Amino acid sequence: MSGKLSPSLMCADVLNLERELTALDDLGVDYIHLDFMDNHFVPNITLDTGIVKATKSVLKHMKRDIHIMAFKPQQYFDRMEIGAGDIVAVHYEACPDDLGDVLADIRARGASPFLAISPDTPVDVLPDWFDSIDGVLVMTVYPGFAGRPIVPGSLEKLKAARRLIDESGKDLLLEVDGHVSWELCGKMREAGADIFVAGSSSLYQKGLDLGEAVARMTELVK
Ligand code: DX5
Ligand code: ZN
Repeated sequence: MSGKLSPSLMCADVLNLERELTALDDLGVDYIHLDFMDNHFVPNITLDTGIVKATKSVLKHMKRDIHIMAFKPQQYFDRMEIGAGDIVAVHYEACPDDLGDVLADIRARGASPFLAISPDTPVDVLPDWFDSIDGVLVMTVYPGFAGRPIVPGSLEKLKAARRLIDESGKDLLLEVDGHVSWELCGKMREAGADIFVAGSSSLYQKGLDLGEAVARMTELVK
């Protein structure tokens, strides 16, 4: 399977979200990355539940890739209208007591549960959850803001996550999120990533033609 793009909507023109979504949809992009933050798990607020929900009415074929950087994420699922076709990534660090219930709730709604880990969380925590998820999201920057530098050792971490998935024999997807730059995306693909969150370090750099940027990154991660 070729690598798939998941452009990060929080890095797009937030004053023209419908235009941005339609442009990506019409370019045949597979996923739209929707970052939700609660200002507690991370010190920021970006797209709110209403915007995440509203994207459903605009999308034609692009699938929602919802990244919830929040404690108690289940409280937002109804408001986001989580359902079939959605990827929903919740953070290991944000669900210390009820991760199993949270992942099961996502699956019960017909969506694909992904487990996200922040840079300081080792990949060793992942295998215990492989039976409960469809994929892993490895954060290669500290979550909460676009434009952050990549955390040293991130490529090795992606390789380690891919190795654990392969050794498990499970057909899980590996998503990489954070500083997916022109220079690094090919190396991230070689490290075993399948889905690439494209933000300010690539697609949304100033002055780029979106169609050309999408074509270029699609080629780099295929
Ligand atoms: C940051 C978000 C990312 C962010 C990536 O916490 O999870 O999705 O938009 O943006 P860049 O590419 O600027 O790191
Ligand atoms: Zn994200």
